[in-house]
Amino acid sequence: MVIEFKPEPFTNFKDEQNETDFQQALDKVEEELGQTYPLIIKGKKITTEEKIVSINPSRTDQVVGVVSKADQTLAEQAIQAAAETFAEWRRVPAEARARILFKTAAILRRRKHEFSAWLVKEAGKSWVEADADTAEAIDFLEYYGRQMIRLSEPQMLTGLPEEDNEVFYIPMGVGIIIPPWNFPLAIMCGMTASSIVCGNTVVLKPASATPVIAYKFYEVLKEAGLPDGVVNYLPGSGGEVGDFLVEHPQTRFISFTGSKDVGLRINELAAKRSPEQRWIKRVVAEMGGKNSIIVDKEADLDIAVTNIVNSAFGFCGQKCSAGSRAIVLEEVYDEVLNLVVEKTKHLKVDDVSDPQVFTGPVIDESAMNKILAYIEIGKQEGRLVLGGNKGPDYGYYIEPTIFADVDPKARIAQEEIFGPVLAFIKAKDFDQALAIANDTEYGLTGGVFSRNRFNLEKAREEFHVGNLYFNRKCTGAIVGVHPFGGFDMSGTNAKTGDPDYLLNFLLKKAVSEVM
Ligand code: NAD
Ligand code: ALA
Repeated sequence: MVIEFKPEPFTNFKDEQNETDFQQALDKVEEELGQTYPLIIKGKKITTEEKIVSINPSRTDQVVGVVSKADQTLAEQAIQAAAETFAEWRRVPAEARARILFKTAAILRRRKHEFSAWLVKEAGKSWVEADADTAEAIDFLEYYGRQMIRLSEPQMLTGLPEEDNEVFYIPMGVGIIIPPWNFPLAIMCGMTASSIVCGNTVVLKPASATPVIAYKFYEVLKEAGLPDGVVNYLPGSGGEVGDFLVEHPQTRFISFTGSKDVGLRINELAAKRSPEQRWIKRVVAEMGGKNSIIVDKEADLDIAVTNIVNSAFGFCGQKCSAGSRAIVLEEVYDEVLNLVVEKTKHLKVDDVSDPQVFTGPVIDESAMNKILAYIEIGKQEGRLVLGGNKGPDYGYYIEPTIFADVDPKARIAQEEIFGPVLAFIKAKDFDQALAIANDTEYGLTGGVFSRNRFNLEKAREEFHVGNLYFNRKCTGAIVGVHPFGGFDMSGTNAKTGDPDYLLNFLLKKAVSEVM
């Protein structure tokens, strides 16, 4: 019997035993660093000359793993393997497919700290962030397994006396899974699990910064009994292999999470019919954000300040959901700004192997350079009140940075920086704050801190974001609790962790028989 879904609890690191266990997991992973990993097509391990080298962003002299890198010939083989396997996998009953997800979740749960330790090393996540990432991966497996079982049950229709009518869901075919590096376990796992539990087969092209954690996840799927060819693990360059996979005539759907530019490109490429293609490709593209937190003059300022800092600088602002704009009413603007600066000053920027570190590195050199370039732009556009510099040279560190008095139209107020940079914007009243918040091309998350019921209700209606949070941080959506996905240039609003999410990867068939 399948028991009711309950989100995986987070680890309490104040408990000494948990701290010891996590440290042991880190030590174990440390010993396993630097190994080589093949790519995998229909269960066959293939080693290539060309490699992707995965680096620990906290210690750039530390190689996390060296991973084989696909070219277009291997990408073609991966698609063919997925297409062949689809003929069998689509016939496996939904309950059996779901059970593989449940078993995968059980294994992940047993090896939770080990997976989180890989996240510390490969993605530069703090202990708490890594633990949340692993918990979310477990949640996706448990949740989508249950949703598939529900969708495989008879669906309600209006009856006719002389006909037997039925509708049911069938899988689509070969999907391409293109996840981002910033939730390298949770999002990669959720995107993969949701597609295969529906009976599809996939080519999983992990993000190039975090291919090792994806390989480790593939191993767990295998251990849980997933047949060869259902998931084909294919690290490769986005430009070379990514375009090829997206344009391939046998590709039925693409599930993408990443930046706006890449998402739009995929959408455009997928919309063109290639010769021999027999369907309109479906694209799920969940993209970036430029998320605002409004602080009303009637807010609890302590709560607002704590949550602004958390939303802006948790995982160094490298969350699509991160709050990168604080829009504060003029009556409380100076006080909130001073309190946020004061609190942020105390954040420790260093190697996240240390449990006391809140703000680790950014993911790689190009991200670091891009963020530093935005900081230079910010110096022209606003008043630098904190940070603005690189951190220690042994990793890709940037100090948490705050700009005050930023114009709502400034580049640092409009463009996704994806780093520890927060822009303060002053608003004369709540209506103006809402107008500023809505005036970006994105619409992912938003926050409001207020005790004014009228203003909260106004925001409920008018703040145009997919995930709106009142009097709490604007990050950390929980599967099944906060269905996640945005509006406008934040993506297709597919809503992960939602009862309807699997419908993105299914076709619905109606059969009618005269009695
Ligand atoms: P990215 O767009 O650079 O890369 C995402 C994936 O696309 C990677 O696997 C990459 O290798 C691949 N890729 C790159 N070029 C490609 C191409 N031409 N064809 C096919 N694939 C290609 O994004 P990122 O830096 O990995 O992730 C950060 C971005 O993701 C941010 O913009 C963030 O806001 C967004 N994000 C959104 C959500 C959401 O749910 N809306 C969640 C997490 C991250
Ligand atoms: N789902 C992640 C969050 O809510 C991105 O922070």
